[in-house]
Amino acid sequence: MFRFKKKEKIEIPLEVPKHIGIIMDGNGRWAKKRMQPRVFGHKAGMEALQEVTIAAKNMGVQVLTVYAFSTENWARPEDEVKFIMHLPVEFYDRFVPELHRNNVKIQMIGDTKKLPKETLEALERAEAMTHLNTGLILNFALNYGGRAEITQAVKQIAQEVLDAKFSPEDITEEVIADYLYTESLPRILRDPDLIIRTSGEIRLSNFLPWQAAYSELYFTDVMWPDFGEEALRSAVVEYSHRHRRFGGV
Ligand code: FPP
Repeated sequence: MFRFKKKEKIEIPLEVPKHIGIIMDGNGRWAKKRMQPRVFGHKAGMEALQEVTIAAKNMGVQVLTVYAFSTENWARPEDEVKFIMHLPVEFYDRFVPELHRNNVKIQMIGDTKKLPKETLEALERAEAMTHLNTGLILNFALNYGGRAEITQAVKQIAQEVLDAKFSPEDITEEVIADYLYTESLPRILRDPDLIIRTSGEIRLSNFLPWQAAYSELYFTDVMWPDFGEEALRSAVVEYSHRHRRFGGV
């Protein structure tokens, strides 16, 4: 007589995205629900970012691009903008040393020259401290807008053509990618495999429009300050179950 063995639970290895982009949304609503000012949510959001960065690094993610301030965010009340612009200073003092110990490399993309001096200096210090690190790249999108990014690329390419450095026929997708802000990332890691947006909003809001052409999109109702290691794992499990075809079969 045959005896069937009890079915063993098979552990399927997670397919970890190499590059994750995150739209960290919902800080204001999270704070309002707790009857606190909006900036309280941004502060909690910064703490969530630290937890998620270390968790991503431990999972084997190689690049984490986080949308920290968009070109449209200048329209917020002056006090809130001021508070957000001061966050990198606090971030440098409180969080960068731990990231450095974790071999995290800090970089930034966006029209960063227009950031207040103290903001830019704090980020440049973080970049300088971590520039030899070989682990996860934490890539801050600050004063970032996808259309602005493409516009500055087109201007530079047009100038190169005027200067006869190359002709219009030489302009390929690879050439364009070399003129985008994400040129600062290793070539094979420039495009996010997965983009996460928190807080229940279902749109990309000018975040990496060129680079997101084939990204998997993951939307969750969790507010950014509540997004931690477990929530990241859920997003990666969902990503693992998807079958990316890049337009093929
Ligand atoms: C969106 O939530 C969040 C931001 C515009 C700011 C995000 C910044 C951080 C999480 C901190 C990043 C850390 C550093 C070091 C820069 P929202 O304010 O639009 O929330 P709401 O939609 O509920 O109003």
